[in-house]
Amino acid sequence: MIARGLIVPRGRGEEARRILLDAELLRSDLQIQEEGSFLVLPIVDDPTGALPIWGEVVQHDFREIARKGPARYADLLSWPDAEKEILPRSFDVVGDIVLIRLPAGLEPRKEELGSALLQFVPGARIVGLDHGVHGPERRREVERIAGTGSWRTRHKENGVELEVDVEHAYFSPRLAREHAAVAEEAASGDTVYDLCCGVGPFSVAIARLGRAAKVVAVDANPVAIALLRETLARYGFGGRVDARFERLEEFLPHAGSVQRVVLNLPHEGIKYLPSVARTVAPGGRLYYYEIVPRTEFAGRGMALVNSLAPTVRLRVVSKRVIHPYSPVSDLVGFVLERSGD
Ligand SMILES: C[S@@+](CC[C@H](N)C(=O)[O-])C[C@H]1O[C@@H](n2cnc3c(N)ncnc32)[C@H](O)[C@@H]1O
Repeated sequence: MIARGLIVPRGRGEEARRILLDAELLRSDLQIQEEGSFLVLPIVDDPTGALPIWGEVVQHDFREIARKGPARYADLLSWPDAEKEILPRSFDVVGDIVLIRLPAGLEPRKEELGSALLQFVPGARIVGLDHGVHGPERRREVERIAGTGSWRTRHKENGVELEVDVEHAYFSPRLAREHAAVAEEAASGDTVYDLCCGVGPFSVAIARLGRAAKVVAVDANPVAIALLRETLARYGFGGRVDARFERLEEFLPHAGSVQRVVLNLPHEGIKYLPSVARTVAPGGRLYYYEIVPRTEFAGRGMALVNSLAPTVRLRVVSKRVIHPYSPVSDLVGFVLERSGD
């Protein structure tokens, strides 16, 4: 059955299991599963998204310990067991849309697989193959394999329903915990820049908590900004967010300094980092995301800080793996704090 799962490296599986058990977040009705060098632990639905542990949160197809009816979408397919073995167990659910990545060998059977998922995921309306995000606006290439209708939906995350168009504006349900964690850090009266905001999950989570005085959300994709404005219009706290269709190149030269800055543009953010760092007020924090080869993880925070040192003095408050990105690299989140002078 589908449930929230936490992906952790196999070597840290027991440690993670204990932490989740202690926090009463581990589900006992589903089996912990192996995915290559990772384990997926079944976790309870946690509306705050705040887990006391590292790892990537996904929707996962778990085996039930006491099975009733089909426990996995694979059970709805009359395929030979060998073919079922290569079926992906993880997929994303965005509102009423199911997105799955398929091994090339299953391409000819994608419609059957789509129908099984459509039947299996409660409330699913459309199933798409996820061909990854591309281009400067990080738009997702999707291919419908079952169901009907558009790629527009509303996705519930951190207590808010976000307007999403999975085809025309970037959104990943896998970052929910990160959005919540950054929002939790905002202090009373802060101004926040959410740079490369997409459909605004950081901005909306921050505004919803109500501590920040103002959030300025900036993105170069007009569809993303239109969706964010739609979301904001539905909530009383929406007035605290100024959603701007603007490129960083236009915004940054005129931007004053503020207490919190988010820069989530993992492949290209580095080229904006010097100008972005200048917008962090003394004592303020920058939340910066990057794809980091595992061999460089240990030294990457200091390397970033040293490269910025001639103009802006920062220190590394924390760095953590948000989720695996490839067999050799991870998406890493850095919290960098500007010195008080
Ligand atoms: C990885 S997405 C991040 C979206 C969002 N922060 C989130 O967590 O869902 C990166 C975003 O950066 C935007 N972007 C790319 N280049 C940009 C630029 N030069 N100026 C402003 N936004 C840009 C893209 O349109 C895209 O929405």
